[in-house]
Amino acid sequence: MPKMVFIETDGTRREVDAPLGLSILEIARRHDIDLEGACEGSLACSTCHVVITPEWYDLLPDADEDEEDMLDLAFGLTKTSRLGCQIRMSEELDGLTVKLPGSR
Ligand code: FES
Repeated sequence: MPKMVFIETDGTRREVDAPLGLSILEIARRHDIDLEGACEGSLACSTCHVVITPEWYDLLPDADEDEEDMLDLAFGLTKTSRLGCQIRMSEELDGLTVKLPGSR
């Protein structure tokens, strides 16, 4: 089973099981990680915003235009920000590490 790591706002690292095909948002929910995802992955909010650690960012498929537009509205946007509902776990992403945005 692939794993991924969430770094919570207080710096706590949580390594969790990350089943293939599930989105970062779905994985967060399974493990009670505090990622809201108000629109359930329909690209109508930016509350699933996560900050990807730089070493992982380049390995992700590029964000499409709709994701970019929503990301522009995200609080605490960074150069390696993505929307968690748009990234699905794959073999290549085993070990993926993301931070929850600093403060919300
Ligand atoms: S859950 Fe709303 S855009 Fe991801």
